[in-house]
Amino acid sequence: MIIAIDGPAASGKGTLARRLAGCLNLPHLDTGLLYRATARALLDQGQDLSDRIAAVAAARGLALTDFDEDALRGPRMGDAASIVGSIPEVRAALIETQRDFARRPGGAVLDGRDIGTVICPGAEVKIFVTASPEARATRRALELKGRGEKIDFAAVLDDIRRRDARDRDRAAAPLKVADDAVLLDTTKLDVEAAYKAALAIVFSHADPETLVSQSAG
Ligand code: DC
Repeated sequence: MIIAIDGPAASGKGTLARRLAGCLNLPHLDTGLLYRATARALLDQGQDLSDRIAAVAAARGLALTDFDEDALRGPRMGDAASIVGSIPEVRAALIETQRDFARRPGGAVLDGRDIGTVICPGAEVKIFVTASPEARATRRALELKGRGEKIDFAAVLDDIRRRDARDRDRAAAPLKVADDAVLLDTTKLDVEAAYKAALAIVFSHADPETLVSQSAG
């Protein structure tokens, strides 16, 4: 069973994807890390984020196992990832890695921007997680505070809005709701309520026999 979870920055999709994967004994891929790691590699090499040739080489050189998640979630990395993610050749270079992951025996949970629309259009369950920009900025600000960083709420909100616009308006695999995705608005939901709602969507869309064998496995 493949579960595709898409949504804008700080919508809570990563947390939901991780918990669903744990509950269903499925591997989980946070595809944002691929774009973040591509951007990190470019910055480390002193290359421009819009250098297509260097960006494609960096994307091709990634290994799923050596992500330093803490560094990749640092300040400005989300925006940097969004810039390299708008390069069509970078997206093309990362497609097979994501599809191979999704094809693992038993399936997988993948979260990102284009999982239900481009990477796994045949996924059994598709959830598009969203929340208002203000709610997402509040969550992101709390997360940054937890990491000991100084918060400027207006700047965090601005970053979210800019990233939304770039991810939504790009030509290649833009952020959008797949026709057959279920919309989950978490603006007024806490983490627990959002998880219960996501689980209910999975249970109402997945094949019951698959669910029984997944949770027994
Ligand atoms: O999910 P995230 O915030 O870690 O993603 C960071 C950026 O990476 C996001 O703003 C756009 C890009 N991205 C993408 O273009 N496609 C994906 N499937 C995942 C992330």
